[in-house]
Amino acid sequence: MEKVYFDNAATTRMRSEVVDQIAAVMRDCYGNPSSTHAYGRSAKSLIEQARKGIAKLLNVTAPEIIFTSGGTEADNLVLNSAVRDLGIGRIISSPIEHHAVLHTLDQLEKAYGTRVEYVKLDKWGHIDYEHLEALLSQGGNKTLVSLMHVNNEVGNITDIKRVGQLCREYDALFHSDMVQSVGHFDLDFSEIPVDFAAVSAHKFHGPKGVGFAYVKKNSGLRPLIFGGEQERGLRAGTEGVHNIVGLYKALEIATEKLQEEKQYILSLKNYFLEQLRSALPGVKFNGTCDDPEKSTYTLINACLPFSAEKALLLLFQLDLNGIACSKGSACQSGSDKGSHVLSAFLPEEDLQKPSVRFSFSHYNTREEIDHVVKFLKEYAEK
Ligand SMILES: Cc1ncc(COP(=O)(O)O)c(C=O)c1O
Repeated sequence: MEKVYFDNAATTRMRSEVVDQIAAVMRDCYGNPSSTHAYGRSAKSLIEQARKGIAKLLNVTAPEIIFTSGGTEADNLVLNSAVRDLGIGRIISSPIEHHAVLHTLDQLEKAYGTRVEYVKLDKWGHIDYEHLEALLSQGGNKTLVSLMHVNNEVGNITDIKRVGQLCREYDALFHSDMVQSVGHFDLDFSEIPVDFAAVSAHKFHGPKGVGFAYVKKNSGLRPLIFGGEQERGLRAGTEGVHNIVGLYKALEIATEKLQEEKQYILSLKNYFLEQLRSALPGVKFNGTCDDPEKSTYTLINACLPFSAEKALLLLFQLDLNGIACSKGSACQSGSDKGSHVLSAFLPEEDLQKPSVRFSFSHYNTREEIDHVVKFLKEYAEK
């Protein structure tokens, strides 16, 4: 076995149907969608078909989908404009959000004096819903809650229906970073009380550099990027037509194959958990990634029982052996900052050990798992 790709939470391999569709658009449909001639109109019509199709898959309306360069831009658009244009003076979030949210919140604090409060986590890294309600009940500044649906490092699932209902009850707006859940879960946005969401195509076998913000109608959001009137004036710049079409194709196939692929990936994950437990007694699983009710089926974040010396070279050795996965450690070497997610809730003793995130897709196999577990077992015994 030459190479194993277990880093699907970082990004996914594009489906060949998506690549083909993108190539066809790049080759045959090169008009500027803002041009009024036939070339432009056909490019524009592809974008609008994609918007309509995506809206239908999520049960929202087409104008509520605003194409962006990805999840980071969608998070930035929502959070910045909420403060600048909607009078939001306080944001409630969590310490385990993606940096696309956390670093934006830092900037908003500095630039606008926005009050940013972080909800408490339990010892598994799940948000404390009672604390969230207590924060919401304090009133005062107009509030927005920004909480992700599925955590990208440990896979914890937040009950966003419950969060959304609390937000409605206390008259707060709700933004959810859904980058790790759209394309992986069957989502009907009409049942989730969410005002804004961020989505990214490359997490569900679509192209990089494209995503969208879901922006509930009449939200009052204003653009971050000024220029032309693209995206109904909310996001200027000539659209990446091929990418938008690729995003739609990827979401369409992901939705169509969701149940089948979910079952398959979950069986791989369960097999990996089982094999790791028997090969490495003492292994622990961070967050609730070993609980299928509370975690996504796509990843495992394992705290491995290795000595400090072995921990130091683990990622390097995995890579050298053709195994791609991600470091989930708090801090294994003096030069990197480690994971803000694990540091937010793991006890110090576990933070000293190496944690690794293995994330899967339908392209993975049991043989690959056997190969990785064998490598880890041998590495432990060396
Ligand atoms: C939870 C989460 N939010 C946001 C992002 C950023 O998305 P993008 O890479 O499309 O900018 C990522 C990607 O790593 C993510 O996992």
